Amino acid sequence: MPDETEYGRGESLLSQLTSRVVGQAHAMGKIVPYVQMHQAGLAPEGRPAGVFLLLGPTGTGKTRTVEALADVLHGSEKHLLRVDCGEFQMEHEVAKLIGAPPGYLGHRETPPMLTQNKLTAAASENCNLSLVLFDEIEKAAPSMTRLLLGVLDKAALRLGDNTTVNFERTLIFLTSNIGARELRKELAPDFGFESMTPAPAAKASAGTSANALATGDDPSGSKLDRIGAGAVRRKFPPEFVNRIDAVITYRQLGGNELVAILDQQLDALERHIEKRLDDRAFSLRVEESARSFLLAKGTSTEYGARELKRTILRSVTQPLAALISNDEIEPGTEVRVSKRPESDKLTFEVEPWEEN
Ligand SMILES: Nc1ncnc2c1ncn2[C@@H]1O[C@H](COP(=O)(O)OP(=O)(O)OP(=O)(O)O)[C@@H](O)[C@H]1O
Ligand SMILES: [Mg+2]
Repeated sequence: MPDETEYGRGESLLSQLTSRVVGQAHAMGKIVPYVQMHQAGLAPEGRPAGVFLLLGPTGTGKTRTVEALADVLHGSEKHLLRVDCGEFQMEHEVAKLIGAPPGYLGHRETPPMLTQNKLTAAASENCNLSLVLFDEIEKAAPSMTRLLLGVLDKAALRLGDNTTVNFERTLIFLTSNIGARELRKELAPDFGFESMTPAPAAKASAGTSANALATGDDPSGSKLDRIGAGAVRRKFPPEFVNRIDAVITYRQLGGNELVAILDQQLDALERHIEKRLDDRAFSLRVEESARSFLLAKGTSTEYGARELKRTILRSVTQPLAALISNDEIEPGTEVRVSKRPESDKLTFEVEPWEEN
């Protein structure tokens, strides 16, 4: 793979992305070549550098993928231009994206949301590729599809004031939940919650539907892709579908992936404590019992990993914050978090820190 150094820390773009977005390696594998084509100067002209439609169940990493790419390419997860299509359900709201023509009522009050400046600002010194995310496109009014057609086809968006925004140096991500119900049925017709909670002994058995399906190169992956593609064809006109470079179906996350995501989020919390609390920093140790509790509370077949963050916030971050504000955590100590069988909450114990 070329480019081992360009993205810093000597890691390839692919491995940086797959470590951030767990269990969806097949998706990263489809996106990375388009970034490389752009970097190598080999992307076709007159169209966006890449157009991707990300499908699949909620909380499986679709939005996270674009955020991770923004982080790797531009240094921040927020460094992207995001259009939340749920805000454009009415035709007149879609018009706000391009602004009203001069002379029309409201011309001055409605500057276009998608301007060349905003697009350029979404690139960075490190990388001149802007990431544009149209989140949950199925929620937008039909005129959004028409507006997008021009963008996907010619990389051009004509604004209300007749100027044109050039989308050649952009990767466009469309996300959607269409087909999600069918996909879930296919993934796990009678998939109870128990099967998602990783029993230590069951970890290695890739035979369970969740684990097998979340690996990305599972045998039925192509079937999921077919279901996704069918749903897309029913929902969008062919000229729209034809302009998409890759329709990528995200896999339902299995027990092992959820464990990895929990570890990732707890690591992030530890790093945050180290970095942001500075001289009040302490070390955090979350025991296995607490991890199982967080996992059971924060994940479900239906919502994927979506609840994990919130569960960590409520069950770990907030109690920690209370301890900090009550001066109960001495800097340099270790806070051990565990779950006792008799309690329905986590227990926090502050101990002198011993390096081992
Ligand atoms: N594959 C994953 N790897 C790492 N974290 C994940 C993954 N999937 C979900 N998460 C966690 O869950 C949160 C929600 O995921 P994300 O926003 O990507 O869901 P989504 O697939 O876009 O769902 P929706 O269809 O509801 O928009 C993320 O911020 C991240 O913390
Ligand atoms: Mg999303």
